[in-house]
Amino acid sequence: MAAPDSFRLAKIPLTHGSGAIPALGFGTLIPDPAATKRATETALQVGFRHLDCAERYRNEQAVGDAIREMIEAGALRRDELFVTTKLWNNNHRPERVRPAVDASCRRLQVDRLDCYLIHTPFAFQPGDEQEPRDARGEFVYDSGVTLVETWRALESLVDDGKCAAIGLSNVNLEKLQEIVEAARIKPAVVEIESHPYLPEWDLLEYCRRHGIVLLAFAALGHAMEPRLLDDPVIVAIAQRLHKTPAQVALAWAIQRGTALLTTSVTPGRIRENFEVSALPEDAMQEIRDGIATKIRFNTVVATGVPGFIPRSR
Ligand SMILES: NC(=O)c1ccc[n+]([C@@H]2O[C@H](COP(=O)([O-])OP(=O)(O)OC[C@H]3O[C@@H](n4cnc5c(N)ncnc54)[C@H](OP(=O)(O)O)[C@@H]3O)[C@@H](O)[C@H]2O)c1
Repeated sequence: MAAPDSFRLAKIPLTHGSGAIPALGFGTLIPDPAATKRATETALQVGFRHLDCAERYRNEQAVGDAIREMIEAGALRRDELFVTTKLWNNNHRPERVRPAVDASCRRLQVDRLDCYLIHTPFAFQPGDEQEPRDARGEFVYDSGVTLVETWRALESLVDDGKCAAIGLSNVNLEKLQEIVEAARIKPAVVEIESHPYLPEWDLLEYCRRHGIVLLAFAALGHAMEPRLLDDPVIVAIAQRLHKTPAQVALAWAIQRGTALLTTSVTPGRIRENFEVSALPEDAMQEIRDGIATKIRFNTVVATGVPGFIPRSR
């Protein structure tokens, strides 16, 4: 069993692009900017070194303020931090990609990104509106750009040194294969919903074969019903090992070879979520074999319309 420090500080080297992604990551999908800044500061203080951001979260400035203040205080160096952000659906046209990444970097107050992801494979009507809708209130998609064309624009960001690595989010296996086959620079990271109720073993196996890191979001099931943290298998393991259910779910994700994202605005939980250590093999097997519940919580993967983000109107 790995020592706790080497476990929670583990990094996964990226096969495509450059760098290494911390296995344990903190997500910044927090609606309120002041809460985002406080939570990001706490996450950095307790030891998280991967921040997952997105232009769509509309709080990159607050995350950037927390990063800058920690660096100015001498508590953090930029090269210790892995910063990911994402291109939103209204910016898929290749000519919109560089301005979008530059704007994200400006708000995050960094000059380059460790990883840049296409947030969803769905292109919306290009423009400044993140949720373009027609007169009937339906989302307006853009049939004038393909995912491969957007991918080519991300490849140029790696060529220019703007991003060390690039990847995709909310893709299924078929879409991922399409990009892997067409890519000059392969995806380094694929960010998808994954937890014991949605293990995505096939996608993980494909990622392993192609040197892609699977980055699991909603690693605790986003606190939605049915609650993963109340699952009898998870709770029994937690009691037996004197850990919390959250620590069991997070350790499971790291130990099966994924990177993960978890989020909290509660300082005690942020600390708890960083205090993870390895599980014995029988607990890993129990989670794999003993949990029958299977559920996807976030529907973004089907439509490109955010499942967890409050709508702007
Ligand atoms: N690519 C995408 O489309 C996409 C989609 C969704 C999410 N993400 C990323 O993934 C990150 C994580 O996703 P998520 O928010 O679903 O994460 P999550 O960790 O599964 O769920 C967060 C929820 O769990 C609660 N929680 C956190 N730690 C806990 C603990 N130790 N015990 C009990 N409850 C706990 C939080 O409550 P409190 O805050 O009240 O403490 C919050 O309600 C996001 O921030 C975002 O960066 C990406």
